[in-house]
Amino acid sequence: ISTTEGSFEWSAPSNIALVKYWGKIGSQLPANPSISFTLNNCKTITKLAFSKKQNDGDFSFDLLFEGKPKEDFKPKIQKFFERIFEFCPYLKDFHFTIDTQNTFPHSSGIASSASGMAAMAMNVMSLERLLNPEIKEEYFYQKASLLARLGSGSACRSVKGEVVVWGEHKEITESSNLFGVEFSSIHDNFKNYQDTILLVDKGEKQVSSTVGHDLMHNHPFAERRFEQAHENLSKMKFILETGNTEEFIKIVESEALTLHAMMMTSMPYFILMKPNTLEIINKIWKFRNETQIPVCFTLDAGANVHVLYPKDTKEKVLQFIKDELVGYCQNGQYICDEIGHGAMSI
Ligand code: PMV
Repeated sequence: ISTTEGSFEWSAPSNIALVKYWGKIGSQLPANPSISFTLNNCKTITKLAFSKKQNDGDFSFDLLFEGKPKEDFKPKIQKFFERIFEFCPYLKDFHFTIDTQNTFPHSSGIASSASGMAAMAMNVMSLERLLNPEIKEEYFYQKASLLARLGSGSACRSVKGEVVVWGEHKEITESSNLFGVEFSSIHDNFKNYQDTILLVDKGEKQVSSTVGHDLMHNHPFAERRFEQAHENLSKMKFILETGNTEEFIKIVESEALTLHAMMMTSMPYFILMKPNTLEIINKIWKFRNETQIPVCFTLDAGANVHVLYPKDTKEKVLQFIKDELVGYCQNGQYICDEIGHGAMSI
């Protein structure tokens, strides 16, 4: 592959936070640390074709979504490039054609910003490595995560590892506000954890995450919330190491409800759950009480519900989902996913 023309292709997964990132400072730096499971099936696949510019005209790129030109995604990618030029000045020497697609249905209410920005960052780093073959593997992934963060904060947790921490935390020495780091001491109880995503509301997000994060400035409970995230990450670290699924459930569900509580108590205020979100939560609690199966829910900044459970309970939980929860999903739609490893070169 020449350094004047060629292409790269990467897939990057979405991720689901266990301790949530909500509130940011400056250039996409988190107001509190977070930790997430990397997903496996919900992915963005992006091909980046590059050709060296013949003149020094303005930077430009073409964007295709599922092979067809897509103008409305361009401003997000333009902004991503603008933010990363300072770290990747070589980008200005090229013209790019970006062809991207998601494995999950478009406008399913599943945010593609984490997977999308992570896939972009991997491609950019492939180009950097082509231009500078000396760079080390560790630098490659760390910088990829940093670039992904500049695209969308949580995207830095979609680069590498099954469980990823982003944001400085006193008990995780390698943790950083600048990029995600792999959390590797995971107890067997959490290996192959399942995430079935119930699509309750596929509409456009009521509140963009940019607006949402901003609501944490001058939020009456912000400082206490940021402290709580540190405490919950301490607890979660111990839980993931020791395999206590009961304690896991308490933190995960409390984090989801706290995220929504922050939005209900900001000014302006928002309710992002739908009636069906609450129906599902109540059904999950009832099922858990009756069966003692350690299944729990978490939420993003929207109405969809992520159902988390161990692999060895999959058959029973999926049966429960089909019997009792599918009716609350829009057009009966749900997506079966599980813990994955991060971005992959294609
Ligand atoms: O990465 P952003 O800016 O779209 O923020 C995502 C925030 C949450 O998904 C609500 C929580 C998280 O930690 O992923």
